[in-house]
Amino acid sequence: MARDTWFETVAIAQQRAKKRLPKSVYSSLISASEKGLTVADNVEAFGQLGFAPHVIGAQAKRDLATTVMGQDISLPVIISPTGVQAVHPDGEVAVARAAAARGTAMGLSSFASKPIEEVIAANPKLFFQAYWLGDRDAIAARVERARAAGAVGLIVTTDWSFSHGRDWGSPKIPEAMDLKTIVKMLPEGLTRPRWMWQWGKTFRPPNLQVPNQGAKGEAGPPFFAAYGEWMGTPPPTWEDIAWLRELWGGPFMLKGVMRVDDAKRAVDAGVSAISVSNHGGNNLDSTPASIRALPAIADAVGDQIEVVLDGGIRRGSDVVKALALGARAVMIGRAYLWGLAAEGQTGVENVLDIMSGGIDSALRGLGLASVHDLRPEHILVPPGFLRPLGLPSDTGA
Ligand SMILES: Cc1cc2nc3c(=O)[nH]c(=O)nc-3n(C[C@H](O)[C@H](O)[C@H](O)COP(=O)(O)O)c2cc1C
Repeated sequence: MARDTWFETVAIAQQRAKKRLPKSVYSSLISASEKGLTVADNVEAFGQLGFAPHVIGAQAKRDLATTVMGQDISLPVIISPTGVQAVHPDGEVAVARAAAARGTAMGLSSFASKPIEEVIAANPKLFFQAYWLGDRDAIAARVERARAAGAVGLIVTTDWSFSHGRDWGSPKIPEAMDLKTIVKMLPEGLTRPRWMWQWGKTFRPPNLQVPNQGAKGEAGPPFFAAYGEWMGTPPPTWEDIAWLRELWGGPFMLKGVMRVDDAKRAVDAGVSAISVSNHGGNNLDSTPASIRALPAIADAVGDQIEVVLDGGIRRGSDVVKALALGARAVMIGRAYLWGLAAEGQTGVENVLDIMSGGIDSALRGLGLASVHDLRPEHILVPPGFLRPLGLPSDTGA
């Protein structure tokens, strides 16, 4: 009899990922930084928001479809860009297939393990994500490769703060998957035979190169070489963002905006979308949950650009809360990575189904017919919940 692969919540996908992955790979997915305050707040904050459901008045049909950066999507949830090197041999291609099967778009990390051309073949609704890495010529070359491959949008992530310490310790990521490393990692791998077998079948170890940092058709630099170059690259200015936006010309998202003043500058720089995000709590620890910062940003710029949120989304009702507080859509990170680790493409599809099922159920409870009808009054926001950052009255900066 076929193994039952289905899971009913993201929490169960996470448990399964923990069981399936070697400890170091699982802990790379957990990531976070310093004391883990931000990553915890991202999730806990959603639990503090409430609903007030109706007993009668539910709509027979609920509409989940929307658009983001010019793409029609069948639910307001898209795949956030992440590097998923050792999670699954099919990596981002499996994620792209799952997103396409469920009618949604995908952000592809510039640190992804698969070349953009292969991933786009599986899902043409693809936004390429670039870091500020190297000089303008190098960045332009990468972006032009993405354009030639058919990327329909660009996501630029500038919030990375190179915070490397974790109170619970960081996993050791090898420089390369050479024979010496494989032998060293064997004992850990043997505790996870299913994962070992998945890779064993492919006759190649996880690829620690980043193909989208190089030219088309090349293997790309090793992860650490690219990371080192990134650390040495002078951080971008608003003029740099405006330059890249101009060069790209199409739908353009600045990811990692947490403050109203930055959101307004992003509008001035010509972006078409922002993601209110703290990089899933992987950056400057003690940054509040992104959902706490969202309403002030949506109020300030939501009528000029598309406002997306990411960070802490684990269920469909979280998506509904984010939309009610001003997001057009959300992006998910760990949730789909756990699904991928648990069951490959099917697991990512399962996670997207959990999201659409949860959105549908919440709309039904609230008596709404569409995600477009969600408003702040549909959510109970407890006193002291919000963290409007970067308002003109702020003394913080
Ligand atoms: C393992 C991991 C790798 C990530 N890699 C990237 C990346 O390469 N580029 C990027 O813009 N964001 C990256 N992120 C951040 C996600 O895109 C997203 O902002 C975050 O995961 C959202 O929070 P969530 O995991 O709680 O959903 C990464 C996150 C994780 C957990």
